[in-house]
Amino acid sequence: MYSPALQAALDAALARLRAGEPVAIPTETVYGLAADADNPLAVRRVFALKGRPADHPLIVHLPDAAALPQWGHPDPRAEALGAAFWPGPLTLIVQRQPRVIDEVTGGRDTVGLRVPNHPLALALLAGLGGGLAAPSANRFGRISPTTAQHVQEELGPEVTVLDGGPCQVGVESTIVDLSGPQAALLRPGAVSRAQLEALIGPLVLGSKTAAPGTLPGHYAPRTALRLCADPESEAAALRAQGLRVAVLPVLPARELAPRLYAELRRLDAEGVDWLLAGRVDEDGVGAAVNDRLSRAAWGSRIP
Ligand code: TXA
Ligand code: MG
Repeated sequence: MYSPALQAALDAALARLRAGEPVAIPTETVYGLAADADNPLAVRRVFALKGRPADHPLIVHLPDAAALPQWGHPDPRAEALGAAFWPGPLTLIVQRQPRVIDEVTGGRDTVGLRVPNHPLALALLAGLGGGLAAPSANRFGRISPTTAQHVQEELGPEVTVLDGGPCQVGVESTIVDLSGPQAALLRPGAVSRAQLEALIGPLVLGSKTAAPGTLPGHYAPRTALRLCADPESEAAALRAQGLRVAVLPVLPARELAPRLYAELRRLDAEGVDWLLAGRVDEDGVGAAVNDRLSRAAWGSRIP
């Protein structure tokens, strides 16, 4: 059903994964740098390629919700959320099963699980018959890639990338921690807090086991970025001072999200003094867009 070229690329990606080599794969959120989740050496290669500290756990991607009990302890809240949103942009943190190796979790007793909604990722998972441990396919602390070309720019030409086109969602999955009695929202994403709470009741924000990758200062462009109420008039004022300024497109969150990281990369490459962005409405994927923008702006100061 795929073109001969795409089928050959899929077969080659699967062969590499089986051989313990990392492969960058498309998902609906962002590209991931995937390795066979049962292979400690393969998982270590992912950390090395990304320059990621070993105590930052990876998400295990599964072929379907039925695979959850092999990797995580069954939990009625996880079952309800998996049934509603998988395949899709939602990661669930649950107590891990003995199968999950320490290399994936950084030695924690919990594991992050998700079923990605991309046909090529699902085809690889079906072929592998296991799980794929995959962080976003960027260098540690940098902007997540949403095209195959971004991955190649981030990780270099020697990394194998399975090209599945631009990511449809554009921001990383929502992360919900179900490892304790109180469910917690660790990272906003395209599955909104309201959608989650409609199924499992109130969520608290963050948690004592806060995801290490949710540090402020993640997703950072090299150019200073400022979030403001009215980016265009602020840009005019800065230009009047002789500064070079680029403005992120002002769009509804649903339209901005799939373009957000590509726009940040493009404008970052322009070599301006300042990037300016406006906040979006918080509903739907808007909370995730504002979260990533404020992390990207962390540390930037107007001169
Ligand atoms: O959309 C996504 O989630 C993408 C695609 C590739 O699936 N993946 C992604 O992975 O964003 P990464 O590694 O860039 O971010 C995963 C986050 C990190 O902040 C990590 O610390 C957290 O999930 N995480 C993973 N396992 C965890 C665990 N057991 N407990 C707490 N946080 C965990
Ligand atoms: Mg990441």
